[in-house]
Amino acid sequence: MSGRKWKIEELRPGLTGEATFWPNPVEGSEFPLRATHFDGRRAPKVVLTRDPRVVAGAPCLVRITAITKPERDDRGTIEVEWIGAAPFRIESVWLDPGVSKKLQVLLQSGLNILLDGPQGCGKTVLARAIAQSLGFEFVFFNCGAVIDAVDFFATIQVRASASGAPVTDFVKTEVLEAIERAAAEPQRRFLVFLDELNRCQESARNALMPALDSTRRVFHPIENRFVPIPDNVLFIAAVNRGREFTGTFAIDAAQLDRFAPLQMDYPPPEEEVKLLAQRHPDLAATLLEHVVAVADAVRRAPDLAGTLSVRATEEACVYLQHPLYAGDARNAVPDILRSSFCGRFSGRAHDANSDAGAVWAVIAGKLRELGYRVGE
Ligand SMILES: Nc1ncnc2c1ncn2[C@@H]1O[C@H](COP(=O)(O)OP(=O)(O)OP(=O)(O)O)[C@@H](O)[C@H]1O
Ligand SMILES: [Mg+2]
Repeated sequence: MSGRKWKIEELRPGLTGEATFWPNPVEGSEFPLRATHFDGRRAPKVVLTRDPRVVAGAPCLVRITAITKPERDDRGTIEVEWIGAAPFRIESVWLDPGVSKKLQVLLQSGLNILLDGPQGCGKTVLARAIAQSLGFEFVFFNCGAVIDAVDFFATIQVRASASGAPVTDFVKTEVLEAIERAAAEPQRRFLVFLDELNRCQESARNALMPALDSTRRVFHPIENRFVPIPDNVLFIAAVNRGREFTGTFAIDAAQLDRFAPLQMDYPPPEEEVKLLAQRHPDLAATLLEHVVAVADAVRRAPDLAGTLSVRATEEACVYLQHPLYAGDARNAVPDILRSSFCGRFSGRAHDANSDAGAVWAVIAGKLRELGYRVGE
């Protein structure tokens, strides 16, 4: 939100702009939704709409239809109607332009999305950014601990009763709470992010997917009945299909009726350098480029037992810009990459037979190519 407040003389019916609406706190108002800003600037009167196409929290384009009591500073309203969704923008995450286009189509069509990409390529930050930019409430659920389909919706907690005997309670998960809230609050939208879906038991996953896509109903283990999943709940799942998962990863494609897979990958080196430069503005550009070039070499190397996430390059930058290293950052690069990059693999960098050793060989080769002096 920037710029000065609108003057009422500058606004007139027919004018269009962007606005984000929230439930109108005035009880009994004929306008269920209200905004305080119009096109990024504070509005001189409350902006109201009763257009059913407007969704709370989702930025949209609107047209002013009426301004009441323009002469009064303390009263009056600006009424608007919906023209369309605001242009889709995600600023904090780098997305391949082709993927971005597909994502926009999928989000408009209401399809659930399966983000498929290697470790640390931005799946989680992307899901959060989508929620933020489209006005969804973000619900994070890690599937890593799921054994049975019920675990998505409730966990069992055992406590001692007054007599000391153990009693078991079902406690709703965030997923079930979101489904219930979505039914109760149809004007809000919820994005349920199922992280690491590939890590949960295959049977649980196979039971869940058709419930989310084709039948859109799930079993409520506390109320012992099926409940529908309201349309204002969108699911985005993430699967991490690093090299180490190849072959073991199996989601039955035929079951993914309304889950559209979207393949992601690491940003290209020049984009990763830009991302890191934004976060570490004091670091020399050449150092950033070298860190990313080495990571890229590791990612491209055949036959390694894993890959390097953007977290690894970030970690290297955190070291390099620290005052303890900053004075002599260039000379510290080999040592820092050795611990930050090789440390993510099993074994030791000096053991050529271990995964870490194989990674070190790639790193050392690339560093020499870049003019660094590297010991064994
Ligand atoms: N495309 C990207 N754009 C911006 N930041 C990114 C991108 N990819 C990775 N990052 C950065 O790297 C870190 C890891 O990203 P994130 O957690 O989203 O990865 P992920 O794909 O969910 O990984 P995992 O498979 O391990 O869950 C974050 O700090 C994020 O800022
Ligand atoms: Mg993640």
